[in-house]
Amino acid sequence: MSEMELRVSKIKDGTVIDHIRGGYALDVIKILGITGKDKRVMTIAINVPSKRFGAKDIVKIEGRALNPQEVNRIALVAPHASINIVKGYKVVEKLEVKLPETVEGIIKCVNPCCISNSGEPVVSKFYLKTQEPLLLKCHYCGITLDEADILRHL
Ligand code: CTP
Ligand code: ZN
Repeated sequence: MSEMELRVSKIKDGTVIDHIRGGYALDVIKILGITGKDKRVMTIAINVPSKRFGAKDIVKIEGRALNPQEVNRIALVAPHASINIVKGYKVVEKLEVKLPETVEGIIKCVNPCCISNSGEPVVSKFYLKTQEPLLLKCHYCGITLDEADILRHL
């Protein structure tokens, strides 16, 4: 048994989000809209030693398989995360996160004058400009958001 397994136990059914950049687990939780108030069992490990990344975060959500939209949302904050769907203690599916071409309703525009911030019933919408570095362009006002903007406006 590895040191990691001693630290965080295996789950029976649910989703394991692994290889999250060290320190970004809470952003992953936030982008998924998970609050912990739904009584679901979750385990969050932050900055555990990893061969591949130096330090990584892991999020385990019991009793819930993420859908593809949720999986892709994670790419905005953890582009190298791997998603493992667990059933009966076995990993039955591994998914790679992939940045969506358009992002709707998750991030707020940084421009206070943008129509999406005016109180009108307008859902925010962004286009993926570049992946590395991560840049999104607002559909309504054309402003560009970088990674720091995105993390601040989740
Ligand atoms: N996991 C878990 N509960 C299970 C099975 C797996 O919490 N019942 C977790 C493991 O601890 C690991 C992740 O799910 O963090 C992926 O499991 P597995 O594919 O067995 O590990 P690796 O082969 O190391 O995966 P990778 O190649 O993606 O690193
Ligand atoms: Zn805007």
